Amino acid sequence: MRILETIPAVRAAMAEARAGGRRIGLVPTMGFLHDGHLALVERARSVSDVVVVSIFVNPTQFAPGEDLATYPRDADGDRRKLEAAGCDILFQPESREVYPDGFSTFVDVEGVSRLYEGAIRPSHFRGVATVVAKLFNIVRPDVAVFGQKDAQQVAVIRRMIADLDFDIALEVVETRRESDGLARSSRNVYLSTDERVRAVALSRALAAAREALASGCTLDETRAAMRSALEGDVDTIDYADVVDKATFEPAVDGEASSLLAIVAARLGRTRLIDNAPLVAPARG
Ligand code: PAF
Repeated sequence: MRILETIPAVRAAMAEARAGGRRIGLVPTMGFLHDGHLALVERARSVSDVVVVSIFVNPTQFAPGEDLATYPRDADGDRRKLEAAGCDILFQPESREVYPDGFSTFVDVEGVSRLYEGAIRPSHFRGVATVVAKLFNIVRPDVAVFGQKDAQQVAVIRRMIADLDFDIALEVVETRRESDGLARSSRNVYLSTDERVRAVALSRALAAAREALASGCTLDETRAAMRSALEGDVDTIDYADVVDKATFEPAVDGEASSLLAIVAARLGRTRLIDNAPLVAPARG
């Protein structure tokens, strides 16, 4: 595995790969890699010839007071895991390489960025879209791989790819879970033992949504079932909702759309998110 820290070095490596007719797969990450990330690398491996993983804790997607300074990092562990997973090129830039002095251009994906994560973390998706657009321009991958765990991020990037005419295929990999259902996340390390036990409430809320909808409940009844599965276990519910998967607007009974149950909650100082697709039963 080659470790590259500068944009010209990545461009040169990519030019070489492209000249050899090789298909390039990109997996953008912020490091502290777990099985969920390695599943993205595995997917990239299976759909491309050269796998590029970026590790960059992107400052523009953190608001003041969020966990940028304390975001978990494990450079040596990450390198070992990527080597074992078959990553060809690790792009690990410093912040000034990505955001040099005078940087002042941002990508704002309207609509789909408005609610939920976008409402709670107002500058978050602007930072995500900006850094992902830069990575797309630096690496120029044929395919980019993201995790379904960050479903609204996937919807934002899908919209950006379409709107800005990036010639990139988007691969989305299912969420990896612990044996009790908790979605794998780098932020799970923040949970105390007691919070870790209670955190299963998020996946329980998604199961409650699936059961409620399958048993004929309305969307509002489904939302209520999600909240009651969370109450008592999480400290704060940021949202528990059923949305249209593409637009991230609240779903409406009777309107045909691809439904997604989404949840965000806080346990102590840790904020967790999760989601699951829902199938609306045919009503006769
Ligand atoms: O999902 C993440 O880890 C980040 O939001 C991403 C896509 C790497 C952009 O910084």
